Amino acid sequence: MDAASWDDRYAGSELVWSAEPNRFVEAETASLAPGRALDVAAGEGRNAIWLAQQGWTVSAVDFSQVGLEKGEHAAQALGVGGRVEWTCADVRAWSPPASAYDLVVVAYLHLVAEDLAKVVTRAAAGLRPGGRLVGVGHDLVNLRGGVGGPQDPAVLWTPGQLRSLLTNSGLAVDTCSTVERSTPAGAAYDTLVTATAREPLEDPGPSYS
Ligand SMILES: C[S@@+](CC[C@H](N)C(=O)[O-])C[C@H]1O[C@@H](n2cnc3c(N)ncnc32)[C@H](O)[C@@H]1O
Repeated sequence: MDAASWDDRYAGSELVWSAEPNRFVEAETASLAPGRALDVAAGEGRNAIWLAQQGWTVSAVDFSQVGLEKGEHAAQALGVGGRVEWTCADVRAWSPPASAYDLVVVAYLHLVAEDLAKVVTRAAAGLRPGGRLVGVGHDLVNLRGGVGGPQDPAVLWTPGQLRSLLTNSGLAVDTCSTVERSTPAGAAYDTLVTATAREPLEDPGPSYS
């Protein structure tokens, strides 16, 4: 879907997604000390707003201006408007500042593999050493009996794909698997990945013989 289609989808006053954060984003970030976070493809901002409520300073990026405006209004209403910066950009052609973030969240961004690789690689470069990445997306196995999500296999995630993308981006993968998410309509299957940006190797100094 292009930005205009997402704008149309977000056009009503009702939320398309929940007001609450994604359960995996919440579980994987709840124990982290707040710092600077980047929410890639933030949509209506449910994850960005929740992080801001936990004390994070958040950059929320999405190419739907309509979605971002809903997020901005909600953040203001909840008293965390000053903690979230909203940026309208196509993440396929956007790079975060290098080594700027303690946390990067990528939730349910579905792009063809080549584009996802570019976005994830750049997002990973936005992490400071020791920073964490939490990624969650509809898994390919969701097509076999899971509910919801895109039906095009070319944009669905797999643990193998995400593991190799993050490893190639220089991150240490902590967990990476297919996880079940129960919904009122039945079970849905997601790929969930968490990873850590490596600390630079210690300079051993000159060696004398
Ligand atoms: C399924 S929604 C998920 C929103 C949010 N991450 C969440 O979990 O609530 C996917 C989002 O990706 C955004 N998106 C898709 N392609 C994008 C792109 N190339 N650049 C920026 N945002 C994009 C859409 O506008 C939409 O808000």
